[in-house]
Amino acid sequence: MKQIQLNNGVSMPQLGYGVFQIDDLAQCEQAVLDALQTGYRLIDTAATYGNEAAVGRAIAKSGVPRQDIFVSSKVWIQDTGYEKTMASFQKTLANLQTDYLDLYLIHMPYGDYYGSWRAMTELYRAGRIRAIGVCNFLPDRLVDLIQSFDVMPAVNQIELHPFSQRRALRDLMAKYRIAPMAWAPFAEGRNDLFTHPVLKAIGDRYGKTPAQVTLRWLRQRNIIAIPKSVHLARIRQNFAVDDFTLSGADMAAIAALDTGHPLILAVDTCEEAYRLHHITFVQ
Ligand SMILES: NC(=O)c1ccc[n+]([C@@H]2O[C@H](COP(=O)([O-])OP(=O)(O)OC[C@H]3O[C@@H](n4cnc5c(N)ncnc54)[C@H](OP(=O)(O)O)[C@@H]3O)[C@@H](O)[C@H]2O)c1
Repeated sequence: MKQIQLNNGVSMPQLGYGVFQIDDLAQCEQAVLDALQTGYRLIDTAATYGNEAAVGRAIAKSGVPRQDIFVSSKVWIQDTGYEKTMASFQKTLANLQTDYLDLYLIHMPYGDYYGSWRAMTELYRAGRIRAIGVCNFLPDRLVDLIQSFDVMPAVNQIELHPFSQRRALRDLMAKYRIAPMAWAPFAEGRNDLFTHPVLKAIGDRYGKTPAQVTLRWLRQRNIIAIPKSVHLARIRQNFAVDDFTLSGADMAAIAALDTGHPLILAVDTCEEAYRLHHITFVQ
């Protein structure tokens, strides 16, 4: 399995499994179990998804040693700040039935994320978290955080797929060796990704689906990806991307699909900022 080395020397799998919007906890537990049995060794959850405990049960049941699984979770906006992040972290550990996290992320660039970063830095130095990072941080807040602390984020988890390739943000992140982690690698199906003619024509040449072409494109760009599916056949399909290589022409055709803006979450717009201020915490 391809690994990505983070800027603190820790390695993590390039391809993982995400559990956003799996609200049925029995289904979540089964899906994570299926993913682990398929061979995934990176599982991405978050306090606000409300399913950390189901992920924890699946890991415990799987029989896969804890140290072989790279577990990632996130602190939500209402739990930002030093004390609240410390408490939320403990709850996350209890939910996941573990005594450390591989990756802990600030979920949104809102709230007292400075206080959160202080807490996370302490936990990182104490060996309770192997790597710390952020999600959805755009250039200004990312550089501001870097300037204000002496522990650099290892990862920025961002919406990243063929229709929103985040090239300028990734170029900036590369200067700090901050690894891009693509959420919604399939754009959650927007722009008809699963039947898109360009991705389909490429896939047909290799006997692969548009989903597999997308994941292979991310692999060849050295971008961490965490696709979600609750269907075993798709969980397996999404993992089967080792046995083909996209050509330079394929990569160029996919590069041309970029719209230059996110399709799902633009954290810096007035509408989204207002919505995130009022969103309910579900934990
Ligand atoms: N940090 C953040 O702010 C943030 C935000 C969003 C997501 N995330 C993380 O990123 C992960 C992935 O993103 P996402 O779940 O939003 O979207 P996604 O992975 O782009 O898309 C998931 C959708 O694609 C379908 N799908 C999956 N594989 C398929 C295949 N091979 N063929 C056809 N359809 C397929 C799934 O349906 P079925 O399940 O029915 O198969 C589901 O509807 C999340 O689970 C979460 O861990 C993070």
